[in-house]
Amino acid sequence: MKIAVLREAAAGESRVSATPETVKKFIALGAELGVERGAGEGASIADGDYEAAGAKVGDRTATLKDADIVLGVQGPDPEALTGAKAGAWIVAGLNPFVERARIDAYAAKGFEALAMEFMPRITRAQSMDILSSQSNLAGYKAVLLAAAEYGRAFPMMMTAAGTVSAARAFIMGVGVAGLQAIATARRLGAQVSATDVRSATKEQIQSLGAKPIFVESVAGIEGEGSGGYATEMSEEYQKAQAELVSSHIAKQDIVITTALIPGRPAPRLISDAQIASMRAGSVIVDLAAESGGNVEGCVAGETVVRHGVKIIGAKNMAGTLSADASALFSRNLYNFLSAFWDKDANKPILDEEIGDAIRLTQGGKVVNQRLLG
Ligand code: NAI
Repeated sequence: MKIAVLREAAAGESRVSATPETVKKFIALGAELGVERGAGEGASIADGDYEAAGAKVGDRTATLKDADIVLGVQGPDPEALTGAKAGAWIVAGLNPFVERARIDAYAAKGFEALAMEFMPRITRAQSMDILSSQSNLAGYKAVLLAAAEYGRAFPMMMTAAGTVSAARAFIMGVGVAGLQAIATARRLGAQVSATDVRSATKEQIQSLGAKPIFVESVAGIEGEGSGGYATEMSEEYQKAQAELVSSHIAKQDIVITTALIPGRPAPRLISDAQIASMRAGSVIVDLAAESGGNVEGCVAGETVVRHGVKIIGAKNMAGTLSADASALFSRNLYNFLSAFWDKDANKPILDEEIGDAIRLTQGGKVVNQRLLG
């Protein structure tokens, strides 16, 4: 059983899918590890550290030769997997709804692609959830980025030269990233408020010491679909939400948006007119920028200024904390594969619940219901 760890090819991707810690653990399970030279560079892990952990470090060809499992942070180029065994598993964040052509190519080449972001949200899979581990870091970093770009301080300060008032921060979307953004903004001393469509988040917002801003007038709204994810809301709700947000946002200095709906473009939460109502010098960080953006005019990977407000289109925010992000991502992969490791067969054998949820391709075909339906 050989596991290959590739150097990420995507521009700007500094994370790596295995660390010396997980390499050691995989070897203890009975696997052989090949690591592509320079794979850990972006996360400050030297080739020698992988070698010391027991991996063979080499070029891509040597790393892939006879690999049964190929690990990645993002999906590797299907054309660059020559040498891996027929039917090898590709285990990574595969962005299945966006990278459909790539998924089809894995199928055509006979690989079994396993999308880690399709991990079901069940208790036993929590430690395997890359969305949670990476979103948590993204929520934290989004607030730091906002603080760095904001021309004022976050906490209230009473000085001999006068008082600096606390920044007002508004977090839109209170999933994993949003909760961490609330906690981080509070730690920095901001006055924090937050909103979500899932009514269950109200209590979570309060427990972190922030103020919930919720649509109350539309009856019967729970906003929660399967697996704890949000659903798309009715027109009536969207209108009520826009009105509520309009009056609130005009008084905010910092806004962090994190709202996502799996398989759909990110919901539009902030219009240009709302941006215009904000004080000049305010900062918006859009964590949904890569999924279409929550903020009108936002550009992924860029900072644009509209009406004097800086709008940061966050891109791979977790990747900017590459060492921690890699450590957590790698543990997610290890927790997943080790949970299913069959000692006699010396390989992982998936059960139906998790296998069916994350397997995208098998036997030359796309087999996942979320892609077929
Ligand atoms: P996500 O990344 O899909 O979305 C972020 C947030 O945006 C969500 O809270 C969502 O409700 C919100 N949102 C969507 N549309 C919105 C709109 N129009 N206006 C305002 N907010 C909107 O969500 P994430 O972070 O993946 O978490 C979703 C839930 O799943 C959370 O309750 C989380 O605790 C839970 N979870 C459970 C896990 C498990 O049991 N294994 C693992 C990870 C998360």
